[in-house]
Amino acid sequence: MNPAFIHQQVAKIIEQHRLRPGALLPVLHGIQDELGFIPSESVIQISLALNLSRAEVHGVITFYHHFHTTPPARHSIQVCRAEACQSMGGENLAEHVAQRIDERAAGLYDVHPVYCLGLCANAPALMIDEVLHARVTPEKFDRLINALGAHS
Ligand code: FES
Repeated sequence: MNPAFIHQQVAKIIEQHRLRPGALLPVLHGIQDELGFIPSESVIQISLALNLSRAEVHGVITFYHHFHTTPPARHSIQVCRAEACQSMGGENLAEHVAQRIDERAAGLYDVHPVYCLGLCANAPALMIDEVLHARVTPEKFDRLINALGAHS
């Protein structure tokens, strides 16, 4: 992930919470929700903005098992672009996937087109990691990705 992008995202999240009492936890949750983890280089940025020591920020990050300090694993998403899926909303689904997996999440997912996953009767289809999913709507895709994020 681009360091300038990380700095910008962290600054945005700090700004959203910095005036709240006990802003550290909402800031840390916000960063993890946005980036998938809390980059080590953001600790000094957070400590300066919230007037805390680096040790305090680091201590909270390491105390809660919820927080991750390394990027989550990458996931593979293969979106079927073949005819049966196209006729059942595959184009709309592919556009939704591209929008959802934008710059923010691009480091976490590899998105590829594929041409038939063998689920034509249950189109549109896609595969996330090694799991096939049939009749995928944009809403279903969001649920699948959200569930994945919870386990990354
Ligand atoms: S065309 Fe998409 S699964 Fe066959």
